[in-house]
Amino acid sequence: MTVTTNTPAIDGVLGHIEAHLDETIEKLKQLSRIPGVSADPPPNPALKESAEFVRAWMTEIGLENAEILEIEGVHPYVYADWLHAEGAPTLLLYAHHDVQPPGRPSHWKSPAFEPTERDGRLYGRGVVDDKAGAAIHFAALEAYIKQGGLPVNIKVIIDGEEEIGSENLGAFLERYRSRLDAEVIVLTDTANLAAGLPSITYALRGIVIVDVEVAAIDHPLHSGIWGGPVPDAPLALCTMLGSLVDAEGRIAIDGLYDKVRPLDDTVRERLEGLPYDEAEFRQDAGFLDGVQMAGEQDIRSPYEKIWHRPAIAISALEAAPMKGASNQIVPSARARIGIRTVPDMDAAETAEALCKTLHERAPWGVQVKVEVKAKADWWITDPSGEAFEAAERALASGFGRDSVYIGCGGSIPFVEPFAKVLGGVPALLVGLEDPICNAHSENESLLLSDFRKAVVSVVYLYDELSRLGSSKS
Ligand code: BES
Ligand code: MN
Ligand code: MN
Repeated sequence: MTVTTNTPAIDGVLGHIEAHLDETIEKLKQLSRIPGVSADPPPNPALKESAEFVRAWMTEIGLENAEILEIEGVHPYVYADWLHAEGAPTLLLYAHHDVQPPGRPSHWKSPAFEPTERDGRLYGRGVVDDKAGAAIHFAALEAYIKQGGLPVNIKVIIDGEEEIGSENLGAFLERYRSRLDAEVIVLTDTANLAAGLPSITYALRGIVIVDVEVAAIDHPLHSGIWGGPVPDAPLALCTMLGSLVDAEGRIAIDGLYDKVRPLDDTVRERLEGLPYDEAEFRQDAGFLDGVQMAGEQDIRSPYEKIWHRPAIAISALEAAPMKGASNQIVPSARARIGIRTVPDMDAAETAEALCKTLHERAPWGVQVKVEVKAKADWWITDPSGEAFEAAERALASGFGRDSVYIGCGGSIPFVEPFAKVLGGVPALLVGLEDPICNAHSENESLLLSDFRKAVVSVVYLYDELSRLGSSKS
């Protein structure tokens, strides 16, 4: 294949990146000081502040039409563009500025919202998930714009509610549809299989999140005076939750696997070609001594389990705190249940099956309330064609080694609907969440050497993608 590279221009852009990398990291730190936790409902001043910071940053680097997209009662999204590369393709770049709650303060080695560098990593809530995702693009865009201009047209959308399921994407899509046309989507919010190993994600799981509450009596009772005939709500809930997996490690909900698509040979070969070391996996995940691998016992590959099979997790469970506990019968108990879905499971059907199962398995006639909190669809693509080849070359230039194709056990609600609305355009998913980044946990961190490599890769990516056939030319 003959590729004409515009090397002198790229060299200038890369020089600009190196000269200003410290400033970019400083901006990333400033953004990471803003506690934009989307789980705290709107109107949330921190999310406004973070949207405003993003908008100002976009303007500063030379993007145009930077605007906070507001819908009443929704955490703000931010948009900007640069549309002066006549005849060249348009890229839609996506990242999110909202973050997960910080978790337990005592478990952070440095405060969650005081980004701190240690051993080549930057620690803080949201640094890798996903403020770095935005910063990668901002650094690369700034360098091009300050060096004279971009080889592609750019539209940037920075989500403000990804971590709670981007429930209002549909509304934004409807309202801003005409602005969002693009030939390629680039998302910087996924993982690398290992530090320093550039990875392109070809599949995301979906998720269905359900809250369940069980109630038996209308006030706490002395467990000696009443214990026996009076139903124990926490025990009822635990019985129900315990029934959701069987001895083989499968999710025990009728019909749940009916639509699960068997792995095709191409995907299986791709999986089998990836490096995997069980000891390292256990160590990165923090398995304690004697703890065994869970999930379906007849599936050996952990990647297959994480990327291509459904999974269930109880992410919150409460009945009564240990502090101040007394011998009582606790009247009610609550849990949050997440089921990760894969092709061709249906999110609404999965939610319904889970809710029905919880009702059916409730012992002693306890009252059960269920509420579906969020849903996101799975997504899978065939990572072939010009755009993926361009991404492979760009990542090889930035990281100095060949990339791998990986799936992702996590979910990004944006991908499926936007790829569809834009007519099935290629979506390139790359990112910096390495196995020890602790996204969603305490001591979340970003590997700074990979951040630099990702910025360089994105510089090459814009250049590579500028040579794709543009439908507008
Ligand atoms: N960046 C993650 C998705 C991800 C997870 C990518 C793991 C790579 C590896 C994203 O911010 C996320 O956490 N998504 C939520 C979505 C949900 C609330 C709909 C998730 O997966 O829990
Ligand atoms: Mn993310
Ligand atoms: Mn996340």
